Amino acid sequence: MVYRIVKYGDPVLERPAQPVREFDTPELHRLVEDMFESMYAARGVGLAAPQIGISRRIAVIDPSGGEDPSRRIVLINPEIVAVEGVQMAEEGCLSIPGFHEPVRRGKRVTVRAQDLRGEFFQITGEDLLARAFEHETDHLNGRLFLVHLSALKRDLIRRKIRKLIKAGEW
Ligand code: NI
Repeated sequence: MVYRIVKYGDPVLERPAQPVREFDTPELHRLVEDMFESMYAARGVGLAAPQIGISRRIAVIDPSGGEDPSRRIVLINPEIVAVEGVQMAEEGCLSIPGFHEPVRRGKRVTVRAQDLRGEFFQITGEDLLARAFEHETDHLNGRLFLVHLSALKRDLIRRKIRKLIKAGEW
């Protein structure tokens, strides 16, 4: 099932999501499948559960955009455990369509998470993957990429979005 992507302005995006405590349930498998489907439909490379209105600590990532199933990553209850180096690149978010800004992230990021069965694992990514680990973990903590911008830039984007909401175009 393809979910509608929740957009900036919905409070679910700015509150910390709830930890997952029950693993390997049909419901959890279904939800993760639906998250991949929703992400591919929206042409994203990462999606966090709050972005489909579900406040739980689950994120899916696929840097191949659905081309290569072996690159699918499921992060449940993820935590960033190491960040090395710095990268600066344009970043966007499916919940803030139309806005892309340079965001500083770690060059090499290690995340510790649980899989669908509840097993803990650690994974290290570089460049785009490192960026996705930080971006999606942020989502689960109620943080959007806007928090990494200057106050000036952030306010400008907020104002533009408010206008779009008023015009019924958001
Ligand atoms: Ni995002």
